[in-house]
Amino acid sequence: MDNKPYLKKVRDQYESYPYPFRDPSQESRRLVEIAIERIDLINFYCFKGACNFNKFRVLVAGGGTGDSIIFLAEQLKHTTAELWYVDISQASMNIAKQRAEKRRLTNINWLHASLLSLDENIGKFDYISCTGVLHHLDDPLLGLKTLKNLLNDAGAMGLMLYGEYGRTGVYQMQQLMKMINVNENQLADKVINTKKILANLPETNWFTHNEKFLVDHINGEDNGLVDLLLHEQDRAYSILDVYQLLEQSALKFVEFSDVKMRMSYRPEQYINDSSLLKTIKQRPIKEQHGIAELLVGAFKKHEFYASMNADTKASFTELSNIPFFFPSEHYKNLGHQLANAILASPNKVISMKHSSGFEFDLSASQLNYTIFKNIDGKNTLQMIFDEIRKELKSETLNNEQLVAYICQCFKPFIQLDWILLKAS
Ligand SMILES: C[S@@+](CC[C@H](N)C(=O)[O-])C[C@H]1O[C@@H](n2cnc3c(N)ncnc32)[C@H](O)[C@@H]1O
Repeated sequence: MDNKPYLKKVRDQYESYPYPFRDPSQESRRLVEIAIERIDLINFYCFKGACNFNKFRVLVAGGGTGDSIIFLAEQLKHTTAELWYVDISQASMNIAKQRAEKRRLTNINWLHASLLSLDENIGKFDYISCTGVLHHLDDPLLGLKTLKNLLNDAGAMGLMLYGEYGRTGVYQMQQLMKMINVNENQLADKVINTKKILANLPETNWFTHNEKFLVDHINGEDNGLVDLLLHEQDRAYSILDVYQLLEQSALKFVEFSDVKMRMSYRPEQYINDSSLLKTIKQRPIKEQHGIAELLVGAFKKHEFYASMNADTKASFTELSNIPFFFPSEHYKNLGHQLANAILASPNKVISMKHSSGFEFDLSASQLNYTIFKNIDGKNTLQMIFDEIRKELKSETLNNEQLVAYICQCFKPFIQLDWILLKAS
């Protein structure tokens, strides 16, 4: 471990304060679900819905106290997928291992090492998760390139990097605490001093302005406070910086993994003037994201999938794909429920509210009734379209028209990841 490339000061920090704070005894009570690591979402966005996860190789780089590796291993425990965890912090790895033991997970390989030391000897991976790690490296680009070199040609990554503007105030606080703590050697004493400063932070302080978005120091025990305000190596990125980092690594941005985040990066959420909006919507998508980020100012992180390939998302034009409501464990019967709701109020409008808070109207038409009745996680699009033609006694509705109808009328469901696709 000691000859390998990593920042000693970062390792020391995570040995004393593993992040995020996790108590392995809690595993018997709850599973921490990490949105970006949901395999249905990874499959839909990164593998055209066509991955069956057998012999699937996963690397969690900088796995910390285990949130990502545990959630992935739980979802993949009935497959032949092979998972690898890597971190420089032994203390963090011990916590992650204890969590896995509590859950009797046996599909994880553990490596106490720097991600920068990984090479072809470990083999290539289909999916690499690296959340909240690259921005703590001396050279994040080198870190990303190292991981990209470990990716299979058709592989994908789940990445999270800090957002520059949403973290306004954090770096002033880090600098302030460095000055105040200049003569302190113990991290525990630095924590005490930080709490003293936080207790009487002037209203004008930039961190005070931003504190309602940045709560790790309140909700995350001392580990959260250290990670946020006393970090030894920490930087943040604008979304345009993120695109540049990806381009320099020959990777492509696939999609934001979180629905709220994805919707919030759309300028149309904030700009009412139609001619100004039209001009902005003509700009490349990354510039639209950059404009939304500066407009909102509160995105504290960028969480997204990346791949070497451009076209990795499952498509509604592939009629052998199966639509299903996501997350499937929450919405097993939603198709039938919506069909019944349409029956109860034909030709009216049904108000829909997604768990992310977004609302939209759904027309209670005969066509929608037939579609919903048939979305059961088993029927392919082709089967649903055939059923529509049979029930509506319409030979004139062809597949292209029905694809266009679904993409248009079901747009909110698709945008909100409420309906995903998997290959049959
Ligand atoms: C903020 S924590 C994030 C943990 C986890 N990925 C998550 O999202 O919960 C950063 C982790 O990266 C690890 N780390 C930092 N530099 C590393 C390196 N060069 N190689 C491997 N892990 C590293 C730290 O030890 C720490 O556990």
